Amino acid sequence: MSTLLERVKSAGVPRHVAIIMDGNGRWARARGLSRTAGHEAGARAAERLVRFIGHRLGIAYITLFAFSAENWGRPKAEVDFLLALLDRFIAEHLREFVDSGIRLRVVGDVSTLPITMQRTVAKAVETTRGGTNLNLTIALSYGGRQDITRACQRILADVAEGRLGAEDVSEEAIARRLDTAETPDPDLVIRTSGERRFSNFLLWQSAYAELYFTDVLWPDFSPADLVRAIDDFQKRERRFGAVAEVAG
Ligand code: IPE
Ligand code: IPE
Ligand code: MG
Repeated sequence: MSTLLERVKSAGVPRHVAIIMDGNGRWARARGLSRTAGHEAGARAAERLVRFIGHRLGIAYITLFAFSAENWGRPKAEVDFLLALLDRFIAEHLREFVDSGIRLRVVGDVSTLPITMQRTVAKAVETTRGGTNLNLTIALSYGGRQDITRACQRILADVAEGRLGAEDVSEEAIARRLDTAETPDPDLVIRTSGERRFSNFLLWQSAYAELYFTDVLWPDFSPADLVRAIDDFQKRERRFGAVAEVAG
């Protein structure tokens, strides 16, 4: 991997990589383990990846889809386990995030999370505010449609209070009111586990993202898999609706 890693680094890594971390349940089932054991293995994969990116890659922004707005529909025991696991993940890595210059942000409807977890999140966001090495966003209770809906509500409130005129409603005005306002759009969206859908992830923000799908189940997703995804990304031509070359 090291030669590929060197090549990928010198070719310029994407600024923002967003990952739909899917396949924990299938990973566990294949081993005769409980789904919760799959989620624990998934958390270890996330830890491994964040460390690798922070130290080795030079990606500026990473977003991890950890719990969707629709995941509330899972059995309560699994929801409770997942939220407790994520709460612990953030709390236990706080010192490491600060020491590594990792700035944590959370997108999603934080108000739906257990109050203790809201405190963990608020403390981590505040404590890591000065981090400049890597911007890590965790999507919790996040849905793209809900994000856009909240932006509409914020716009209407601003219009009602005279801070914004109807003629000022632009793409930029909407983008500034999304949960991701402080973060550039993802350049590369990766989904593991063989599924090829967004499942309501960053819908607005991914308008021109490059998509990468792999059959690897999330707990098995390694730094080498990430390097392969970036290598694939670097071979693509992003046109943004324009023409590649103006021919004579
Ligand atoms: C991803 O793994 C974790 C979350 C969605 C929270 P899954 O739990 O969706 O695993 P599969 O898709 O059932 O294998
Ligand atoms: C998407 O995975 C959400 C996360 C990875 C957090 P799901 O497993 O919930 O998505 P579906 O249900 O297969 O679309
Ligand atoms: Mg899944």
